[in-house]
Amino acid sequence: MDEQGFLEVETPTLFKSTPEGAREFLVPSRISPGEFYALPQSPQQFKQILMCAGVDKYFQLARCFRDEDLRADRQPEFTQIDVEMSFIDREDIYALIEGLLKTIWKTALDYDVPTPFPRIPYREVMDRYGSDKPDTRYAMEIGDLTEDFAASGFKVFSGAVERGGVVKAINAKGFACVTQGQMETMTNIAKGLGAKGLAFIKVENGEWKSPIVKFFSDTEKAALIEKLNIEEGDLILFAADEWLNACEILGRIRQYTAGKLVELGKLEIPADQFNFLWVIEFPLLAFDREMNRWFSSHHPFTSPVEEDADKLETDPKSVRGQHYDVVVNGVELGGGSIRIHQPELQKTIFEDLLKLSPEVTQARFGYMLEAFKYGCPPHGGIALGFDRLIALLCGADSIRDVIAFPKTTKGSCLMTDSPAAVEAKQLRDLHIDLKVAKKAE
Ligand code: AMO
Ligand code: AMP
Repeated sequence: MDEQGFLEVETPTLFKSTPEGAREFLVPSRISPGEFYALPQSPQQFKQILMCAGVDKYFQLARCFRDEDLRADRQPEFTQIDVEMSFIDREDIYALIEGLLKTIWKTALDYDVPTPFPRIPYREVMDRYGSDKPDTRYAMEIGDLTEDFAASGFKVFSGAVERGGVVKAINAKGFACVTQGQMETMTNIAKGLGAKGLAFIKVENGEWKSPIVKFFSDTEKAALIEKLNIEEGDLILFAADEWLNACEILGRIRQYTAGKLVELGKLEIPADQFNFLWVIEFPLLAFDREMNRWFSSHHPFTSPVEEDADKLETDPKSVRGQHYDVVVNGVELGGGSIRIHQPELQKTIFEDLLKLSPEVTQARFGYMLEAFKYGCPPHGGIALGFDRLIALLCGADSIRDVIAFPKTTKGSCLMTDSPAAVEAKQLRDLHIDLKVAKKAE
């Protein structure tokens, strides 16, 4: 980053609550009774303000804090290689990050990362892999059978198509030996995502063993054989559902069966190979049925793709964002976007689409809209998860293995035994009156 002329700028850790993303950690103020700081989920707003201020190439190894459910690749505090630049477009980001990752992999592992990385639009990546962070070291792509089963005698499939859904399937090659328990695990994955079940076909001794093939016509069977390359010993798994649900179910099944096939020695996923790619053209907005409103797929500062901008009011769901994720071997390593730099457009997003009142917009983001008025340059950036990057380089399964004092999945530090209770006087100083709800257990 130094070589490329980036200025390293440190931004504050005590920030303000702007609840538009992950849940935040709050810090009570002693000096201002009843008021709180929030720990930043990322330095997003600071780095954009720096662009307005004329710092045209910023980077920072930034500490970020998110109060989310933890997993192998998530910690409540983590580090980003955070980047922002002015007067650039998406191509500049792709070139910079590909160069950076190439250099890191060469230096650390003497591994040559081929560039440019493939770019796959969100719609296509979901159709083929059922995940927006696919591991492309193995194929096992999802097949689409919607047209073939639209008029099927098997009502579970034709009914889904009638309701506007899709029929998709995956061929787990050589997994006809699946156990009852593994079938149950997979069915539970499908049920967990709202499906009623997980239809399957086992190909054993030249026979299709399945409770549902008796409903299939010869044409339907021929379509299956052709699209999924069905052979002796295969296991075919189906999802008939809304498009996104069907994709996600089979994406999870793809991952699960790949793991089992590796254990059985029937599939190889080379640990020393790194398949980088960009996922692009995410939808700008997603609709939250429960809240009955749109929310940003990435964050509300992401700019729409230019040719889609006029559809913001008429057809918000079809608007693509200038958002990109860099993915490697099934890990989302980083994400970013070209930002909105026009105050009017930013206001439209906050008020018309995200349904924040003008007062709330002003209270939460007034300083950004104000800064934008002084001639904000077009700008964009990205953040790479530093802990994830190191875990990939070390071949570690969890980022906990590369963090010196990590937290457990329950968010506690076993060594210092935190979080912990504090003394009544400390709470009084912070103007806090504590009522602890009894824990369920
Ligand atoms: P985003 O939320 O996609 O983007 O985060 C960027 C990257 O940070 C890493 N990451 C995490 N690593 C460990 N534990 C976590 N809990 C965690 N959450 C995220 C991931 C992820 O890809 N401000 C925007 C970036 C931008 O638009 O420039 C942002 O934070 O590797
Ligand atoms: P049913 O006719 O409901 O007994 O379902 C027949 C088979 O289809 C069972 O094996 C179910 O697990 C499976 N199935 C049911 N709903 C779906 C669905 N939405 N997608 C895929 N398979 C399903």
